[in-house]
Parts: sequence; C-alpha cells; structure tokens
Amino acid sequence: MSIVTKLALVAGLATALSSGVMAQDLTGKVIGFSQIGSESGWRAAETSVTRQQAEERGVDLKFADAQQKQENQIKAIRGFIAQGVDAILVAPVVATGWDEVLTEAKEAEIPVVLLDRGVDAPEDLYLASVASDQVVEGRVAGQWLVDTVAGADCKVVELQGTVGSTPAINRKQGFEEAIAGASNISIIRSQTGDFTRSKGKEVMEGFIKAENGGADICAVYAHNDDMAVGAIQAIKDAGLKPGTDILVVSIDAVPDIFTAIAAGEANATVELTPNMAGPAFDVLAAYLADRTEPEKFIITESKLYTAADDPAGEYERRKDLGY
Ligand code: AHR
Repeated sequence: MSIVTKLALVAGLATALSSGVMAQDLTGKVIGFSQIGSESGWRAAETSVTRQQAEERGVDLKFADAQQKQENQIKAIRGFIAQGVDAILVAPVVATGWDEVLTEAKEAEIPVVLLDRGVDAPEDLYLASVASDQVVEGRVAGQWLVDTVAGADCKVVELQGTVGSTPAINRKQGFEEAIAGASNISIIRSQTGDFTRSKGKEVMEGFIKAENGGADICAVYAHNDDMAVGAIQAIKDAGLKPGTDILVVSIDAVPDIFTAIAAGEANATVELTPNMAGPAFDVLAAYLADRTEPEKFIITESKLYTAADDPAGEYERRKDLGY
C-alpha cells in the first residue's frame, strides 16, 4: 500500500483515494513546489507525500526547499514562472509579502495552490488553498485543557510556531478563545520555538527556570508536536514528569508524540494530515483540463487524540509514512 493510500486511511481524508477512485491524472504536467524547509516531522511527511502523489499522477515535480526563508520562496516561484511550469504549489512560511510574486504568477497564467498555511493577499491571486482550520486546532487543544483541569487553577506556558506564520497566529487565537471563559486557566509565558524540537526544548528550559523550576507550570501548549517533544525533554531534565507534573498538549499527530502519549509523557495532540498535495493535485487536474474553478478553501480535519485513542497503534499506523 502506498504512503498516500495509508494516509488516506489513517486520516480519513482524500475520499477519492480511500474509496478506490483513481487519483486524477496529471501525466506530463510540470508543477513547481516551493516547500518551507524541514523544521518538523510533519513537514518531512508533507514533502514525502507530495513527492509520492506527484509520482502516482505522472507529475514532473520541481522541488525547491526554502530553508525557512521567504526570500528563497519568492526566488523559487520566480524561477518556476521563468521555466513556464503548468502550476505552482507553495507552503508559505509567513502570511505577508506575497502580493507581488503571486501577481507575477497570475499574469503568467500559472495557477498557484497554497498548502497548509495561508497568506494575507487578495484571494484572486491564487487558485485555491488546502489547509486545516488553524483556529479550530487551537480551540480543540484549549478545550481539551479546559475539560481536563475541570476548574482547577492552571498556569500555561505556550510555545508558538514561526513568528508571522498563519499557524502561529491562528493556533494562538483559537487556544485563547477556548480558555477565555475559564478564569482558572491563564497563559503566563508565550514565546516562539519556531516549530523546531531544539528551540522548543531551549525555550521550555527558560520557562522552567523562570517559573520556580517548573513547579508553577501546570501545562505546556505547543503549536506543534516537535516543540512539545523538545519541551518534554526539558521537563525531564528539570527532574519533573511530563504528562503528570506538567500536562503537554500540541498539534500535528506525528509518530513521536504518540510514543510520548503511550508512555504517559504527553497528553493530547490535534491531527494535521500531511496529505495536502492530494486535494491540491485534484484541483489542478480539473482546472488544467477545462478551467474548472475549485472551492477556494479546502479544509482538512482537526481530530483530537489522547491516551484513550490507542496511541501505540496510532504510532504503528504512522511510523512508515515519511515523518
Ligand atoms: O503549517 C503547518 C505547521 O508547520 C505544522 O504544524 C508544523 O509542524 C510545521 O512546521
């Protein structure tokens, strides 16, 4: 079974794939993909799935790794335009600063599909966006905490994603909305860990030092699992028990967080499917065939997983999917 088919089954997404309907053929099409980088396990999986999807559909995928820099993404997109590709996929590292290059793509009549993050740009500058509702992800994580602490006082430290990225902005907003009515819960510290494991650990070490060796922290909310895994290490290094002394809730549902949940060292994660390319290629196949206008925003599921959801099994189901 291919990575993509497994993902469709795991995430309950990409119904065309899981129901046995053939993926839309794009044989001979040249599609540029400006990827952000490799900051997280989730990002690695998205890259693997995109390559696999491209292969299955006969796409000649031109891949450009931007190493977390918007200037590299803009350069790559301009390169794709100069090559005259049939379409462009872009996972935009930050929300702002895209108008000019998207206008250039539009003038060249090259459709652009956004993957997993949004942009602050007029909607007519891109064909479609395939992403989760990141505010909902934050709300799901926050509501889990509200329900779990059940009225007890809880001071939260927050590890934010990349500054200026839509998941960092929206996941913060959603979590704050969820805890707004709970006067027992407050965010006492909030800093970026840039979606990486190493920065998540480093920032968590600072939070622990500043908060009475961690004794004053009830929970850590990380905008992705990789930062949560880094935070778990910092909590252990401080002589505390992650998952018990400090609750851990995060977003992505990567295999490593299920290992941590199974070990009682993390408590909850909200799933983000790495299969953004499947729906994006379907949209492009229809558009390139006869200019079928797709739905502008294709929203993926945001499912909560806890220790009650067979974390060892979830690990097994994901471990070979390219994370
Ligand atoms: O844009 C999606 C986010 O980017 C993922 O949650 C995170 O792991 C990645 O770096």
